[in-house]
Amino acid sequence: MTSRIHPSILTADFANLQAEVERVASADGLHVDVMDNHFVPNLTFGPAMVGRLQEVSPIPLDVHLMITDADRWAPAYAELGVASVTFHAEASDDPVALARRLREIGSRAGIALKPGTAVEPYLELLPEFDMLLVMTVEPGFGGQSFMADMMPKVRAVRERADRDELGIWLQVDGGISASTIEVAAEAGADTFVAGSAVYQSLDAAAAIGELRDLAASHASHY
Ligand code: DX5
Ligand code: ZN
Repeated sequence: MTSRIHPSILTADFANLQAEVERVASADGLHVDVMDNHFVPNLTFGPAMVGRLQEVSPIPLDVHLMITDADRWAPAYAELGVASVTFHAEASDDPVALARRLREIGSRAGIALKPGTAVEPYLELLPEFDMLLVMTVEPGFGGQSFMADMMPKVRAVRERADRDELGIWLQVDGGISASTIEVAAEAGADTFVAGSAVYQSLDAAAAIGELRDLAASHASHY
């Protein structure tokens, strides 16, 4: 199984974003946390900022929308040409219709679940998505502790994806570090967001390499 590392620029130096993006050029994708101060109690970037990041980033953008009314706002992010747009299940009235729209525009479509959201209702819908994101912290802030009790959700998605031979990516986001990534990889995650573990490291490339190796050597094999 391929293991992808997506550094989150939430923990980067916002005064030097272009340099911060280049610092993680050896990663598989750049995770961009869009927050609206409604869905989560924090405010970050909007489409203008994401559009500029898309222009300067040497690696694909993985946009994570933590915003209310995703049905209304998410397509505009796909229209920027980013590789992937993930919206929250809790913020969409019709996740399947929204995913279809995002794919039609040309981006991958991801669906994210907060820690309190059950995964079961989404298992039948997996073919409609390119990625499912299991949040391993309450969304809103970087630097929180990994919630190992989310691993049953990761396992449930991995089992269904393997059973039905789906190519869906399974992402975990929150508290991923060299000491937690193995547990997530063993549960079946294949795409790992890491904010502080990469950006607070003096050698980001080395941190990315170490995380990727740890994930690959603990990847689940169903
Ligand atoms: C939290 C964000 C995460 C965050 C992860 O709401 O979705 O992407 O940046 O940061 P760390 O890896 O520090 O937990
Ligand atoms: Zn995120």
